[in-house]
Amino acid sequence: RSKADGSDGGHEATNPNILELKTDQKFLAVLEGGTASITVNMATTGQASAGDLVWSSSNTDVAAVDNEGVVTGVAKGSCEITAAVKGNEDISVSVPVTVRQLEQRDGCTYVDGILIVNKTYSLPSDFDPGKLDDTAEKAFEQLQADAAKEGLDIYIGSDFRSYSYQVDVYESYCETYGWEMADTFSARPGFSEHQTGLTIDCNTIDDAFGQTKEAQWLAEHCADYGFIIRFPDGKEDITGYQYEPWHIRYVGVDIAREIMSKGLCLEEYLGVDSVYAGAWEH
Ligand code: DAL
Ligand code: ZN
Repeated sequence: RSKADGSDGGHEATNPNILELKTDQKFLAVLEGGTASITVNMATTGQASAGDLVWSSSNTDVAAVDNEGVVTGVAKGSCEITAAVKGNEDISVSVPVTVRQLEQRDGCTYVDGILIVNKTYSLPSDFDPGKLDDTAEKAFEQLQADAAKEGLDIYIGSDFRSYSYQVDVYESYCETYGWEMADTFSARPGFSEHQTGLTIDCNTIDDAFGQTKEAQWLAEHCADYGFIIRFPDGKEDITGYQYEPWHIRYVGVDIAREIMSKGLCLEEYLGVDSVYAGAWEH
């Protein structure tokens, strides 16, 4: 077609310097009405900028994207978000996006039906199942039995903790370390997943556990029993907590396998934050 009029038929000029587009994000979850960013790395032979890319969604009823890679969740579902070089769709990168629905019931927060407890989402002080959840307990017993067959000893160090017990745990850490430090490894009352009855601390709650055969087996196999390593190494900025190789959370086998095989933490899988609203006040 003729370009004599100076236009290119509605397409902007392609930047020939861009050889390849890549992203580290293999998966992105975002809440309905929430936003999250996709970061693209460009392999280039010369100058290139974000303005050389065009963004699109495979289903704008599910998620929208702006021209800077900011994704907005529209409605529960899945789609693909693609960044391509303007005028050259052969050079592109896509990320599968899942938009999730957050619901509040009786003061508890569920994302696509999964109970979430972290620094953003708390439990009411009277939420009190009183003990470990039956399904989680049975799953753990199977995990324990299978580990024992390999000569490994995995046992419950701490499981259900009531609101009032967490008051004692957290406040005693505050006295020793101050609340800012305590916040990096101990949850404030109402913000501990232990209060759900879906969480177990295995064996000894110390960093040395991470070096044991038991910890290695747990990381490799816990998903087959429906558990995830809740606070993984390297995800501290997302979970809000230090690495805890001993702390497992029951989510069911299918979800656990997806989370663990993709190397995600629960916040990434659900598309939620984990940040306290403010300082700790007694
Ligand atoms: N150690 C975890 C964060 C808790 O206190 O629930
Ligand atoms: Zn724990």
